[in-house]
Amino acid sequence: MTPKPIYGNVSSFATGTNVELDDDIEVRKFPEHFIWGSATSSFQIEGAHDADGKSESIWDRFCSVPGNIVDGSNGDKACGHYELYRNDVALMKDLGLSAYRFSIAWTRVLPTIGGEVNEAGIGFYDRLVDELLEAGITPFPTLYHWDLPQALEDQGGWTNRQTAYAFADYAEATVERLGDRVETWTTLNEPFVSANHGYLSGEHAPGKQSMDDYLTASHYLLLAHGLASQRIRSLAPKAKVAIVLNFTSIEPATNSPQDQAQAQTQDDLENRWYVEPISGMGYPAETAQQLGWDQSEVLEGDLQIISDPVDLLGINFYTRNVVSADDSPQTKEFGTTDMDWEIHPPSFGKLLRRLNDDYNFPALMITENGAAMPDQKRIGNQINDQDRIDYLRRHIAQVHSAIDNGVPIVGYLAWSLFDNFEWAWGYTGRFGLVEVNFETLERIPKLSADWFSSVISSNEISIPAADMTGGPLNTWPVEPIFLPNPESA
Ligand code: FCB
Repeated sequence: MTPKPIYGNVSSFATGTNVELDDDIEVRKFPEHFIWGSATSSFQIEGAHDADGKSESIWDRFCSVPGNIVDGSNGDKACGHYELYRNDVALMKDLGLSAYRFSIAWTRVLPTIGGEVNEAGIGFYDRLVDELLEAGITPFPTLYHWDLPQALEDQGGWTNRQTAYAFADYAEATVERLGDRVETWTTLNEPFVSANHGYLSGEHAPGKQSMDDYLTASHYLLLAHGLASQRIRSLAPKAKVAIVLNFTSIEPATNSPQDQAQAQTQDDLENRWYVEPISGMGYPAETAQQLGWDQSEVLEGDLQIISDPVDLLGINFYTRNVVSADDSPQTKEFGTTDMDWEIHPPSFGKLLRRLNDDYNFPALMITENGAAMPDQKRIGNQINDQDRIDYLRRHIAQVHSAIDNGVPIVGYLAWSLFDNFEWAWGYTGRFGLVEVNFETLERIPKLSADWFSSVISSNEISIPAADMTGGPLNTWPVEPIFLPNPESA
């Protein structure tokens, strides 16, 4: 089966339309061919940690150290997706997804350094891609979502330049096998988090804590992206290449020069550090200098490899961060999620416009957006997650506004399809549209899954007009405007 075109023609990208129903509720229609989907990643859902020749990843190792994961859990079983993928694709089809973003485990494809491709491992993704296409869902694979082979970490991981070349080899092996059916390849997921949480704060695998390692890792990750992108282009000239970056809106708490300087540094480190080298602008010079980074890892030609133009920028957005020079706690005006991440939808729209104004990528896609919520209320058997619906609706509305302002956003993928292994939070941070019972592995769509499904089928959202500005404080949470089907109550 031929994949559906996932972009349409971006240059003639039609904007959505607004139909105002009355003073309070607006219906926002999305452009035709807008891509609606959901995202997951290998380590977070697959389980089968040692099946079919898979080797150990840094996350397998990290989870084995007591204290690293809040609930002491690991990814050994996770959602059991490795076995249940057929069932899961059927569920995606029921929800009406047009695209599914998943990641490929390097440790399944190339379990040993410099070794042969593991047929059984790549065979899993081969079958998954076929199953998705059969269901009319566009596969949207990411080559690296943080599960580095431990054997590479033993040689320095992302602080070793060789890892970037090893990644290009792994990309090549994967594209050779799946490139006939995959239209868009994403190289990396969130290099900021890989470098920052993995090598500076240590809260993620491999748990290192060094600024030098962070800076080196950030460069080799971007180099890995560039090298892989070259290989993809030579093997599959028609393929589109993407990278997924996470962005956090950074705002200064006050207008004081100190707070502004702090916000600028943080914005440079979290946001501009990745998007600017990719856009051919190099690393933010002032912050690099402040950190005393001599850039000795950046060899001649590296920045050119890194800035090989991408076809699509994937954007992951969850929260904003209001910073002050003295680190004082800030009021979170629209509330927080269950993981205490500030909810601030207007920042999302602002960010999307900024990215378009400053970098002018040919196409943007929201590759992750979602919220961990307490999920305590039920209607019968189903989780009544009106709070998650509100989060999604407000953020999707911002996407719509950005499209109206001419930002070429081609799709929106909700994080996540399932409750899953939320890294250092283990199974305590629940982002799923679909609840997973981690004992029985039963999947039960939450109310948000039904809501998202109705958004997909109508290609529109309804939203109280006040919510477009974020709404005054006392409207959070707003009255539900998507009510459960009384028959399922
Ligand atoms: C992103 C990750 C994703 C998930 C969400 C909540 O940073 O890419 O795997 O953990 O956060």
